Amino acid sequence: MLHRRAGQLLIERTKQIRRGLTGTPLIPLADEQCDIVTKLEFCNPAGSTKDRSALWILEQAIGRGEITPDTTVVESSSGNFALALAFYCRMLGISFVPVIDPNCNEATEAQLRLLCRRVEKVSVRDGAGSYLKTRLSRVQELLVELDSAYWPNQYANPDARDAHYRFTAGELIAQAGPLDYLFVGVGTGGTIAGLSHRVKETYPGCVVVAVDTEGSVIFGGPPKKRRIPGIGSSIVPPLCEQALIDQVEIVSEVRAVEACADLVAKYGLYAGGSTGSAYAAVQDYVARHRPGAHRPRVAFLAADRGHAYAQTVYDPAWVQQLRAEAVQPAGVEALAVN
Ligand SMILES: Cc1ncc(COP(=O)(O)O)c(C=O)c1O
Repeated sequence: MLHRRAGQLLIERTKQIRRGLTGTPLIPLADEQCDIVTKLEFCNPAGSTKDRSALWILEQAIGRGEITPDTTVVESSSGNFALALAFYCRMLGISFVPVIDPNCNEATEAQLRLLCRRVEKVSVRDGAGSYLKTRLSRVQELLVELDSAYWPNQYANPDARDAHYRFTAGELIAQAGPLDYLFVGVGTGGTIAGLSHRVKETYPGCVVVAVDTEGSVIFGGPPKKRRIPGIGSSIVPPLCEQALIDQVEIVSEVRAVEACADLVAKYGLYAGGSTGSAYAAVQDYVARHRPGAHRPRVAFLAADRGHAYAQTVYDPAWVQQLRAEAVQPAGVEALAVN
């Protein structure tokens, strides 16, 4: 009886939080050749597009009774998904153990340690040179060790896709009107899977362009050292296979950094590395296709803010090193971030 009451209170609490969310803004960027709009996903309460999947995954699991007030949520993430889960779990009074790795930036790790009683940090690279598989093994161990644990599994959970279908895409369509192109950065593929289906249902002619980074294996490229988190992967995520993708743009990290600087200089937008990749893809695509008299209407997401990238993407010394390594690529042993 007491358990049922506690479960109902948890459901009520998620509904209250949901009711308070009003969506993220869409802003136009003045451009000579096309009408570009960007959806400021960094205005979500926990600071990124991962708010969408984190809250919806929790909400659905709570509704199904898979998460109760006694559950510990366990997830592998070194970035935005962990921050979003940490925030919403704290709001809901649920324990959360993030499994992170040494690529987690200092500010994110400090924030996670404030929000979570326990943080698991792996230190051994897997066979592919990334930490992803080591993190996932640690998650499996924790699921056995903890009494009642729930793993959101952001790489394959259909609720992640559905969150973007319902909320991110629902808002975008209402705010933007007809779109000719939608550019979406790909990490786990949840965003592009949800957005592409809903946008094409409403605007069948909209061309969906997946944006990935050099060194990611999602679209079949060879693995290579990557430094910018959020975008790219060292596995092919199951959710990505569900996306309706018309074209793929692969962007180098040097181009992503240049595009981040452009966004600040032209529009005052201080955004993270994957937003730079998406904007670089828009610029490069438009430069190649020269739209002419018809001004295409183009959308992309500003997935997170620039603050977490102050020591990387926005640090001239780091960028200089990146450019030097781009000329003389480093070995594969110091590989990927996700
Ligand atoms: C900043 C940023 N951009 C883009 C993405 C990609 O989204 P998805 O994982 O849904 O493909 C992520 C995912 O973590 C992200 O953190």
